[in-house]
Amino acid sequence: MPPRKILIDCDPGIDDALAIVLAHGNAAVEIVGITTVGGNVSLDRTTRNARALREFLGFRDTPVVPGSAGALLRSRIHAAHVHGDSGLGAARLPEPALAAADGHAADFIIETLRPGDVTLVAIGPLTNVALAVRKEPRIVDWARELVILGGSYTRGNATPAAEFNIAADPEAAAIVFGAGWTVTMIGLDVSRTALATGAVVDRMRAMGRLGADLLVPCVEFYGMVTAEEGPAIHDACAVAYAIDPTLIDVQPAVVDVETHGVHTSGMTVVDFNLRDRAPNALVGTRIDVPRFWDLLLTTYASVAAALEIG
Ligand code: RIB
Ligand code: CA
Repeated sequence: MPPRKILIDCDPGIDDALAIVLAHGNAAVEIVGITTVGGNVSLDRTTRNARALREFLGFRDTPVVPGSAGALLRSRIHAAHVHGDSGLGAARLPEPALAAADGHAADFIIETLRPGDVTLVAIGPLTNVALAVRKEPRIVDWARELVILGGSYTRGNATPAAEFNIAADPEAAAIVFGAGWTVTMIGLDVSRTALATGAVVDRMRAMGRLGADLLVPCVEFYGMVTAEEGPAIHDACAVAYAIDPTLIDVQPAVVDVETHGVHTSGMTVVDFNLRDRAPNALVGTRIDVPRFWDLLLTTYASVAAALEIG
């Protein structure tokens, strides 16, 4: 079976980086492009990090296309306190030589989705996706699927009510969820169980340059690692779903995005009861954590081996 073509819209970002390594290294998917958005850190930084990952991992022919620096209406928020000023924690990848592509991410998203066989995996704020769907509403039919890492039907992380990617641009998220496609929403309810514990990091330490130069300095910066605990590798859950949808249970729901709440702005209000409304989302409810980590570590080991060969 040919690999599933995916376009990754991202804000690298530590967990974005681990998601990109997974997508690059797993034969079930093919990265046809990377678009970047301001989010965890500035657009300049997220774009630089995407370019640096492209060269470090060796997929030099894949376009990296920058998009929106900030939200449609709101002032910018960031997560440099979580991802570091560089956006990649303690990892220090070589300065990339290859330039980003010309043009805007929203236009690249439209043209990449036009043939109808590409899955859009959005793991940052949804500003680029909202601009694309406003400019060309037909992408909701062209996209094979839209899978996002974002939202939550329990509690947030940027605020008690809102997950970061949605909180960063609630208006964009409202446009995306209201555009007419069925959004596959992999939220914190799923991703916060995908913890990089000590056993996981020990496996990463044995992965040569990939482990030493990227995985371990990223993960150890991202959160405290113990035998039972560790940082949640959120974005990799969205790519893992694109690779193997059986990893994550999903349920149809109606998702609305709060854009007016004083305390709840950016909250994804998830109604699994549907009532008389057609679902606009498939919402992740549980991930098979052992199989998730088996997928990641097996894929990372193959990427590491390829890097050692050089
Ligand atoms: O809430 C987690 C999400 O916010 C991830 O995409 C992470 O990279 C940050 O952008
Ligand atoms: Ca992200």
